[in-house]
Amino acid sequence: MARKVYLTRRETFAAAHRLFKPELSDEENFKMFGKCSNPNWHGHNYTLEVTVAGEVNPDNGFVIDIKKLKEIMHEFVISKVDHKNLNIDTEFMKGIIPTSENITLAVWNQLETKIPGGKLYSVKLYETENNYFEYKGE
Ligand code: NI
Repeated sequence: MARKVYLTRRETFAAAHRLFKPELSDEENFKMFGKCSNPNWHGHNYTLEVTVAGEVNPDNGFVIDIKKLKEIMHEFVISKVDHKNLNIDTEFMKGIIPTSENITLAVWNQLETKIPGGKLYSVKLYETENNYFEYKGE
């Protein structure tokens, strides 16, 4: 049986957002989304963990070159969200309410085809120290 190794790269980014539905009043948005609906935006320090899984390539001893994984995360995610406003600046979040659930799914979509060999295993996003959101492609 082939043995699988799981490898995780962690990156952090800071981003602003507002959770709201444009068709609702500020008061209704506050009822639905709480403080995260503040009309003048607010920020979070996010931590993103991307896990890749696969057999170790006997040629180089890698599942994936971690440098390559880091580059992919930077090019397709971090550079598009770090010090940005997720509602306005980030193309891959356009038209999506930027909850951590939705950011997690959108990051998966960004990475799925970029990580070679179908090896993307999970995307984990920490919005605070106390909660994280995870998607495993199901
Ligand atoms: Ni928030």
